[in-house]
Amino acid sequence: MKVLVATSKPFAKVAVDGIRKVIEGAGYELVLLEKYTEKSALLSAVADVDAIIIRSDIIDAEVFDAAKQLKIVVRAGAGYDNVDLESATAHGVCVMNTPGQNANAVAELVAGLMVYAVRNFYNGTSGIELLGKKLGIHAFGNVGRNVARIAKGFGMEVYAFDAYCPKEVIEAAGVHAVDSVEDMYKTCQFISLHLPATDETKNSIGRNLVGLMPKGAVLVNSARKEIINEEELIQLMQEREDIKFVSDIAPAAAAKFEELFAGRYFATPKKMGAQTAEANINAGIAAANQIVGFIKDGCTKFMVNR
Ligand code: 3PG
Repeated sequence: MKVLVATSKPFAKVAVDGIRKVIEGAGYELVLLEKYTEKSALLSAVADVDAIIIRSDIIDAEVFDAAKQLKIVVRAGAGYDNVDLESATAHGVCVMNTPGQNANAVAELVAGLMVYAVRNFYNGTSGIELLGKKLGIHAFGNVGRNVARIAKGFGMEVYAFDAYCPKEVIEAAGVHAVDSVEDMYKTCQFISLHLPATDETKNSIGRNLVGLMPKGAVLVNSARKEIINEEELIQLMQEREDIKFVSDIAPAAAAKFEELFAGRYFATPKKMGAQTAEANINAGIAAANQIVGFIKDGCTKFMVNR
């Protein structure tokens, strides 16, 4: 059995060491393809492997066609919009993610982005504090729950909306569950986005919602750039100079945001939420264990293309 770790954005070394221990401990071979820049490198690396561990790496039909022995792909992380699930199923390949394993890392980055925004990007001028402010969490999954926990530590009043999460679960976390997403945007000066990128959510965050936010609005996106309607957000931010937008992923129109909204916009150069040793270890080793469990025992927990 040959397992490939294909990461254009590599894991911390300590995580790769942990993955190696699990894979070699099971008697399999581990091969690494890190920091690759060309798809051709990925296509040749997958040719003779049985399993692949990836991060945001794109696994499309061409990759599945090239991977003749492939049985399983594990996305070490939460979002699997980078994997063509239909093609995986057509090729008889199991796809899994590792939910929750990097959630705290992303949530801590969200806290950092909020502080950065309200302290005027550390430009030396007087800002505001998070204490007592209202934060709305849009989608209450693993990351959203961690953001809620941390925000409560700041003394923020936390609200959440999640069409798929029972209100009782939200309330059990000490968070106000709102009935309508519009009400949450109307109420909260801070909104943190935690939606996956799906047909339903793509382009769904625009004027319709952000336009409802109170004065001094701060929009934080640590999810996927595709969920934001950038054209509408740009127009809205031109009309409303009080809105700030901080993102852990450069929007498609990054140059425009930079040019128009100096002092009100920041994006990380590369998606950094899950870039911690701890998150790499948690997600990477979970991925390795899931591969061993699948190959040895047929365990399909966390399979996402059923
Ligand atoms: C995720 O979906 O798990 C996060 O966005 C992290 O992605 P990354 O592994 O590419 O940093």
